[in-house]
Amino acid sequence: MLNPQLDANGELKHLLSTEGLPREVMTHILDTASSFLEVSDRDVKKVPLLRGKSVFNLFFENSTRTRTTFEIAAKRLSADVINLDVGRSSTAKGETLLDTIDNLVAMHADMFVVRHASSGAPHLIAEHMQRIGREDVHVVNAGDGRHAHPTQGLLDMYTIRHFKRDFSKLTVAIVGDILHSRVARSDIFALAALGAGEVRAVGPQTLLPSAIGRMGVRVFNDLAEGLRDCDVVIMLRLQNERMNGALLPSASEYFNCYGLTPEKLALAKPDAIVMHPGPMNRGVEIDSLVADGRQAVILSQVTFGIAVRMAVMSILAGN
Ligand code: CP
Repeated sequence: MLNPQLDANGELKHLLSTEGLPREVMTHILDTASSFLEVSDRDVKKVPLLRGKSVFNLFFENSTRTRTTFEIAAKRLSADVINLDVGRSSTAKGETLLDTIDNLVAMHADMFVVRHASSGAPHLIAEHMQRIGREDVHVVNAGDGRHAHPTQGLLDMYTIRHFKRDFSKLTVAIVGDILHSRVARSDIFALAALGAGEVRAVGPQTLLPSAIGRMGVRVFNDLAEGLRDCDVVIMLRLQNERMNGALLPSASEYFNCYGLTPEKLALAKPDAIVMHPGPMNRGVEIDSLVADGRQAVILSQVTFGIAVRMAVMSILAGN
């Protein structure tokens, strides 16, 4: 089956998922991001790679980090950035997603950055671009439902590579609400493609997908066992807004069993790093002493996210 993210020459034309993204494409994105990191330290934080291009940010779901860092990244590449105010747009009057997209294409959009509560929405837009013969318009998935959050996955890989270098020697624990997490799925596919030594999925049975074992991870229901001798701990937010029904007794019970405290973190390697995609629920999945502690690289993830998003957009635009 053709990979909808790649053109006939194997070049990236959309970024929809880390699933099926070849290792060399991923590595190229991470290497390109490295070259963009210093742009943020310049007096004039701009390069002209997307000059004259129009990037439309379409966020149908809330966001702080992804929306803002995509906007910063596009501006640092000198693009014109248009943030659609979804609440005031005609989607609020019942216009369909694809009618909205057609109108924005008529305004000469070059790239759509899309966050949507429905899994598959960015994919639908990418297919639509092909159907209407506009394969020059690129789509970036900024998080769709429970499905994928590929730029978060890539910035997580960038962070791990920055602090730990060689993926093959690493044990990575992904802890918490994996069932509802598009970040976990994107991280697991990316870690597999980059050859991580061992990936662990740690959480209560009710918050693990039934087919998790088929994703090539080791499953742990006990946090202490799952953390033992890890190099990287990726904590996930408890996603109450995506839960249907009572999957947990209470937030405090969850913290007792799965909250990352300094005592639990001490079971990982002494130089283990702690990551979290944000937003964090302090006192639910992570103790403030860990979130603000010396092993946390959570704010570095955010900074690296700008460089990774610059890399993705610049590669899509053909640079
Ligand atoms: N990590 C992440 O997607 O955060 P936001 O929801 O704030 O964009």
